Amino acid sequence: MRKKIVAGNWKMNKTFQEAENLIIEIADELEEIELAAGNRAVILCPPFVYLELATDMAPDSFFSVGAQNMSDSDSGAFTGEISGPMLKSMEVEYCIIGHSERRKYFGENNELLARKVDASLSHDICPIFCCGELLPDREAGKHFDVVKQQLEESLFHLKKEDFEKLIIAYEPVWAIGTGVNATPEQAQEMHAFIRKLIAEKYGEDTASQTSILYGGSCNAKNAQSLFAQPDVDGGLIGGASLNSADFIKIINSF
Ligand code: 13P
Repeated sequence: MRKKIVAGNWKMNKTFQEAENLIIEIADELEEIELAAGNRAVILCPPFVYLELATDMAPDSFFSVGAQNMSDSDSGAFTGEISGPMLKSMEVEYCIIGHSERRKYFGENNELLARKVDASLSHDICPIFCCGELLPDREAGKHFDVVKQQLEESLFHLKKEDFEKLIIAYEPVWAIGTGVNATPEQAQEMHAFIRKLIAEKYGEDTASQTSILYGGSCNAKNAQSLFAQPDVDGGLIGGASLNSADFIKIINSF
C-alpha cells in the first residue's frame, strides 16, 4: 500500500556505541509523533553489524528495520556476504537493493539486481529498489532512458502481486552526497515518469499504490518542498539520517 516513508540509509557510518545512541534518540523522538495517523512509516537501515540493535528495539518502537544490501544466494561459500534467510531470521523487514554505490563500487548490474530483488521477495523482505541516472546521462538528456532501463531490467519481470510489495527510490547519482538535490520539479518529473511506466506495465491501480521515494541530498531544509510534490512519497536519506534532530525534522516534513 502507498505510504509516506522516510528511510535512513546510514551507509558505512557509526561505531557500535554511536549506533546504539542514535537508535535510542530516534526511538524516543518517534514516540511523540503520530506516524500511523498520517499513514507514515520510518525505516532505519544501519550497517549489518548493528541490525540486531535495531530489530531488538523495533517491536516497542515506531520504526522498522532494513538492511543496505543482501546476496542473491540463500547460503553457501560466499565469504563476506549476507543472505535473505539470515536477514529474515533477524526480523529485518526491508532491504535496499541497487544503491548506486553498490552499482559503482561493487559492479552490481541490472541483471544481478533482478536476482537480488527476487531473493528478497522470496524471503518476504521488502526491497527498496534504487534507480537513478549519472550526471552525464542527465546532461545528455538520457535520464528517462536510463531509469526506464533500470526498471525494465531489474523489476519488470515481476508478477503484478510481487511488484506491489516493493518500494522504489529515485536517487539521481549527481545528487547523492553532493549537497545539490534535485529540485522539487526535477524530482516530480521523474517520479511521475516512473509511475507512468508502472501504470503501463501493471495498471493504474498498481502505479497509484506504489511508494516512490526521493534520495540525494535530501535534508531538513529541503524535505518539505520535495515531499510536497504529488508523486514524491518520502525520502531515502543518507547524511541527514545520521543525526537524530535532522532525521526527525525530515520525518515531520510531510
Ligand atoms: P545523501 O542523503 O547523503 O545525499 O545520500 C542519499 C542516499 O544515497 C541514500 O541512499
